[in-house]
Amino acid sequence: MNTPVGRPRAQARIDLAGLRNNVEVLRSAAPTAQLMAVVKADAYGHGLVECSRAAVAAGASYLGVALPEEAIELRANGIDASILAWLLQTDSPAQWIELVERDVDVSVSSLKGLECARIAAAESGTSAKIHLKLDTGMGRGGSGMAEWSRLLDEVSRAVSENSIEVVGMWTHLAFADQPAHPVVEHQLELFAEGVAQAKRQGITPLLRHVANSAATFRTPSAHFDLVRPGISIYGLSPGAAVGTAEELGLQPVMQLSGAVTQVKPVAAGQGVSYGHDYVTQRDTTIALVPLGYADGIPMGATNVGPVVIAGERQVVAGRVCMDQIMFDVGDADVHEGDEVVFFGSGAAGEPTADDWAQVTGTIGYEIVTRIGARVPRVFADGSA
Ligand SMILES: Cc1ncc(COP(=O)(O)O)c(C=O)c1O
Repeated sequence: MNTPVGRPRAQARIDLAGLRNNVEVLRSAAPTAQLMAVVKADAYGHGLVECSRAAVAAGASYLGVALPEEAIELRANGIDASILAWLLQTDSPAQWIELVERDVDVSVSSLKGLECARIAAAESGTSAKIHLKLDTGMGRGGSGMAEWSRLLDEVSRAVSENSIEVVGMWTHLAFADQPAHPVVEHQLELFAEGVAQAKRQGITPLLRHVANSAATFRTPSAHFDLVRPGISIYGLSPGAAVGTAEELGLQPVMQLSGAVTQVKPVAAGQGVSYGHDYVTQRDTTIALVPLGYADGIPMGATNVGPVVIAGERQVVAGRVCMDQIMFDVGDADVHEGDEVVFFGSGAAGEPTADDWAQVTGTIGYEIVTRIGARVPRVFADGSA
């Protein structure tokens, strides 16, 4: 006898056709620039290797990652597109060697980083391809304006020794999601100044890059030679002032779903979950769904997280637990095994990850990126 296979406890369905659509939308927003698909953090929770392949198939000429191990995983899976890795440790030249040996471009923000790139070039018998990062106002990674000239001097020396090749020069915007903010313009001016200074010192990078998703859509003067979008590749809005996903022509790529695992009648006045933050107002039915904060459901969804169960909107009742959440489904026709859609494209009336972000007081980036490793990603290539 065949045992019936139930609905999965939880799954994140990843629509690769949607992802390719989004890459195309972004490419047409910046038609004169190349596109680097930012696939760090497991492609914002969507699956590093599969999403990278789909992005390259849709015309991305670069992949951007933060960590060395992300770049190594891409190469180990046979992905030979250009890759930039930008969060390397300068106390670990071994990381730099591993990347240069695998033909991964590395970001350099300091003399120490440059030294690591030189060591990597010498050890691997090739030149290191670097992208010089300038901090024009993000106050995060990158050379300070004050150290830039000194860094450029040392870079010139390394270039003349053939140990490094300056492929790129780049910076990151602090207010790209507020396109009219004066800091955007100011950062672009400082970037232009930094590039001009490099030119005067004989360094002309092929690829100047600045624009994340928001600037790709809203700040054409930041497009330069390559744009570097992340969140919009996955179909989410980079910010309310930029536009909703729908307005931008983006298709949310991840659909998070689960299954009802218990349905039971409870009396009026029953407290639900830790601390009884929710109390039933009438005799009702509670449906239990086995996903919780260990799966990335935010605690902030307590009493506000929207889902669709058996075709009807419901809202989380009571505190989110580690592995479970509850819904007061009243008289709705809900059964064990019914599908629960947390978020998706919105096309069938289900909430989107951006809706989840709004009701839980965060950003769509965090909603999708935090979906836990124990939620299997299931890749689909169409609307089926
Ligand atoms: C350096 C850098 N560039 C580009 C991006 C992509 O930004 P977004 O996801 O807003 O498009 C990120 C993401 O945080 C980043 O850290």
